[in-house]
Amino acid sequence: MDSFGPFILLILMFFQWTAAPTAGEVTWTYSGLVGQSEWSEYFPECGGTSQSPVDVTTTKTRYNPDLKAVTPLGYSQHGNRPFSLHNNGHTVVIELPEWMGLRGLPWLFTAVQLHLHWGSGGPSHGGSEHTINGQSADAELHVVHYNSELYPNMSAAMTQRDGLAVLGILIVTGEETNPGFDNILNYLSRIRHADQKAFIPAFDVQSLLPKDLGRYYRYNGSLTTPPCYQSVIWTLFRERVQISKAQLLKMETILYSSKSDEPDRMLLQDNYRTTQPLNHRVVFTSFSAESGKELSSGEVTAIVVGVMCGCVGLAVIIRFIVKTIRFFKLLHLETVVVNSSTSSWDVLHNNRPAPMPRLKEPEKEKEKKQDVALNSTSAAEKKEEPSPSPQSEP
Ligand SMILES: *[C@@H]1O[C@H](CO)[C@@H](O)[C@H](O)[C@H]1NC(C)=O
Ligand SMILES: *[C@@H]1O[C@H](CO)[C@@H](O)[C@H](O)[C@H]1NC(C)=O
Repeated sequence: MDSFGPFILLILMFFQWTAAPTAGEVTWTYSGLVGQSEWSEYFPECGGTSQSPVDVTTTKTRYNPDLKAVTPLGYSQHGNRPFSLHNNGHTVVIELPEWMGLRGLPWLFTAVQLHLHWGSGGPSHGGSEHTINGQSADAELHVVHYNSELYPNMSAAMTQRDGLAVLGILIVTGEETNPGFDNILNYLSRIRHADQKAFIPAFDVQSLLPKDLGRYYRYNGSLTTPPCYQSVIWTLFRERVQISKAQLLKMETILYSSKSDEPDRMLLQDNYRTTQPLNHRVVFTSFSAESGKELSSGEVTAIVVGVMCGCVGLAVIIRFIVKTIRFFKLLHLETVVVNSSTSSWDVLHNNRPAPMPRLKEPEKEKEKKQDVALNSTSAAEKKEEPSPSPQSEP
């Protein structure tokens, strides 16, 4: 038995030695020698059936009312310690302090890092990893967390189902500068080359997120880079954040994927993976189709017109009601008057038509109105001393 010990050790060492170059040492890229289509040759999980990113076809999503808003924990309590900014040759990474986390998932998750994905052609040329109905955004932010309730650290969690939770934030360009993103973009020139690191002032990480954290897409997926572990609970927010075109240009053109000692400088661009097949997975939404539907300008016009018509209609109805009330008040007055002279009515009852036929009511109302207008006497007085008007009726 003793002679087996070293033998087994030797076998283990041999496997480690052969395994190392395929898994750890291979430098993968987005295009080129070990490009996206080759990833799975070196990282088998990249060829799995629950890969990310995906295209979200909104008509095929399923509403899940149990999905509550995700709550970032401590994102705004950045403290005084600077953040580390790192160009790893694939993206820019900021390590996050361990007191930052995420609530609102079945477990508590602890923040690890955030990073970005972008394109190369300015606005409307792709750049995001996830797409919505086939439409790319200009860039995408990922905030990575590990399941700290079930696992002791990131490396233990990243290979496990439900081990990671990533927030995906789609970025589009607009007119205004987003000050939150300047906390990163203004320092990219310090880490232009791969493997460079810099410390930057800590900042409010929540300022990078959209306001609406209640509406999102949720599905089970993977890391979008090798080794593509299928361990990620994805939360892709419906609301997109905006940065300026100048900010996007900084993101797309400052960094190199090549190291400082490499003779050929390679811009770090188009660091996004193409969308992967859903393979029977369902993308759930935390919002129902109605509340999530964006209104077209035609629908907005229809609603405005509808509301205006409604208001006019309401005004007409109110006017009618007020008129009717006024009329019945007057009618009441007359009834009182009529009752007080019952004796003569009784006597004449058989010869006379039914009192106050419907057709004549409007006329009576008019008369009565005039009476009221002319006689400044109050209704109360009128009740006490009946006016002679009923007798003047035909
Ligand atoms: C992570 O946790 C595992 C399991 O407890 C441990 O073996 C490993 O050393 C830890 N890794 C780091 C980087 O702390
Ligand atoms: C993810 O997979 C787990 C099983 O591991 C399942 O319980 C859960 O409902 C799935 N979530 C989504 C959003 O599909």
